[in-house]
Amino acid sequence: AQISITTKDPKKISNMLTGVFFEDINYAADGGLYGELIQNRGFEYTLHDKKGSDEKWNAKMAWNGDFKIAKENPIHVNNPNYAVVTKGTISNTGFGGIPLKANEKYDFSVFAKGAGFVVKLKSASGETLAEASLKSGSSWKKINAVLKPSKTVTDANLEISTTGEIAVDMISLFPQKTFKNRKNGLRADLAETIAAMHPKFVRFPGGCVAHGDGIHNIYKWKNTIGPLESRIPSRNIWNYHQSMGLGYFEYFQFCEDLGAEPVPVLAAGVPCQNSSDGGAGQQFGIPMKDMDEYVQDVLDLIEYANGSATSVWGKKRAEAGHPKPFNLKYVGIGNEDLISDVFEERYRMIVKAVQQKYPEIIVIGTVGPFNEGSDYDEGWALADDMKLPIVDEHYYQSPGWFINNQSFYDGYDRSKSKVYLGEYASWGNKFYNALAEALYLTGIERNGDVVAMASYAPLLAREKHTQWNPDLIYFNGNEVKPTVNYFVQQLYGQNPGDIYLQNTIKLSDTNNDVSKRIGISAVQDSATGDLIVKLVNLLPASVTPSIDLTNFSTAENTTYTLMTGKPDKTAARPVTQKLTAKEAFSKELPPYSFAVIRVKIS
Ligand code: AHR
Repeated sequence: AQISITTKDPKKISNMLTGVFFEDINYAADGGLYGELIQNRGFEYTLHDKKGSDEKWNAKMAWNGDFKIAKENPIHVNNPNYAVVTKGTISNTGFGGIPLKANEKYDFSVFAKGAGFVVKLKSASGETLAEASLKSGSSWKKINAVLKPSKTVTDANLEISTTGEIAVDMISLFPQKTFKNRKNGLRADLAETIAAMHPKFVRFPGGCVAHGDGIHNIYKWKNTIGPLESRIPSRNIWNYHQSMGLGYFEYFQFCEDLGAEPVPVLAAGVPCQNSSDGGAGQQFGIPMKDMDEYVQDVLDLIEYANGSATSVWGKKRAEAGHPKPFNLKYVGIGNEDLISDVFEERYRMIVKAVQQKYPEIIVIGTVGPFNEGSDYDEGWALADDMKLPIVDEHYYQSPGWFINNQSFYDGYDRSKSKVYLGEYASWGNKFYNALAEALYLTGIERNGDVVAMASYAPLLAREKHTQWNPDLIYFNGNEVKPTVNYFVQQLYGQNPGDIYLQNTIKLSDTNNDVSKRIGISAVQDSATGDLIVKLVNLLPASVTPSIDLTNFSTAENTTYTLMTGKPDKTAARPVTQKLTAKEAFSKELPPYSFAVIRVKIS
């Protein structure tokens, strides 16, 4: 294949093209990214959290032992249940066993009143790995201890025993080693895996979680901030309990720690069109009489993120430990909503209010769901009329669809809204899927003047608690298992550019089926001056590129990263070597491969 790249007519493209879509699906938050090791620490699980008749799903879920649930005089009205233990022991198994590392420190805390008690970390075989004897008094008090287990195990439990009577609530265990060592922090190994993708933005808290299962299940950011015991837990649309321990403060802080733009997405005043809770559905939005209050909640979020520490909501951010603004620039309104009249009335109202009060905020709208056979016409017509700066598109399709549609954005009208491809994935975690996504991303980079951002979805999935496949990163209590698709995202995230360089490719075989299986993208990163060429070969045969760089004066030292492997397997991983520029730009591309060539321009 003869490829030429030219510096003529370079095109400015988005400098934040790849990021992550975080949704609390598949136990991505509690039991996932959120570092808490105790499940149901507040005894607030309810039957209503889960559809169906799973009787175990109640205030005692994940707890063993003899105890009562009481409600009189709770530690906070938003956290009404607590446990009363009389001359006995209760134990918690975490999310299927608590993983512990020998000699590392764990912060234990509990609200307690009554008798003294002993807290122990025990292995599944009953061996005590750490313990502390603690006192409580006649009124609720938060009691802390540091526990240091003597062994590494994956399936410990936490026990609290008393010889008297004790009331306990918000029983918590966190590793001290969280991501960036934050208190109430995030699981380090998972967060570091995300950080290694170099995401330029993080969208949260969903997905469908944002608009919820019925109007009473719309995600309310105000319920997720402040002291942990005052947060209001909620039923998750994906059929489990959300403690809200990972709330808006923690999301903003995570973005800051990653150096990524926060992109909160709020419901457009309507729940999920497929809502089952209360049978509401999307034709019933928040009643118009309550919409002013809802709109105010959206505006208050911007004040919470960006307002001064003396403003009403900025003060709450400062109290949580962040007096400086979070510098929020983007707000998403709506998620994959059906473009109905009910939706439109509320959507316009919210968007207008944000644009009037905060003209500097970039509102990301939605153009509704995309299925084969239907397109986004109504959503786009509305976006055109509202002159929205960016709209969110979503699609989950087969690898063949991604290969056939790699020119999806070539014809997009540059005078209209830009696109945030907020959710996409090909159906699977085989290398073939990852290559189809890599190929599609060459088209996204080529169209980086109209596509502003793109995020694979969903991001995280805990094994045994996965409601949606495929995902980008699977994990269990102590292991992180990035997929082959993850490494494609990582290579794009680590090798972005903000200038697209025109290129041409000539193949000896001009058959369309052949040519569409070869992808190329050439970008320049103005921060480093590096030229980055991405090559995708989805053919069962090798291809030898001959890349003409006569326009460039390249340094000798080139980084050449290759992923290659069997298309129906999952084993391909990036391997990096140093080559001369000449070697790198003429190196044979094996069958089924993705290469990233990075060279300094002198
Ligand atoms: O990513 C999983 C789900 O897919 C999201 O919650 C929703 O927006 C989409 O339908």
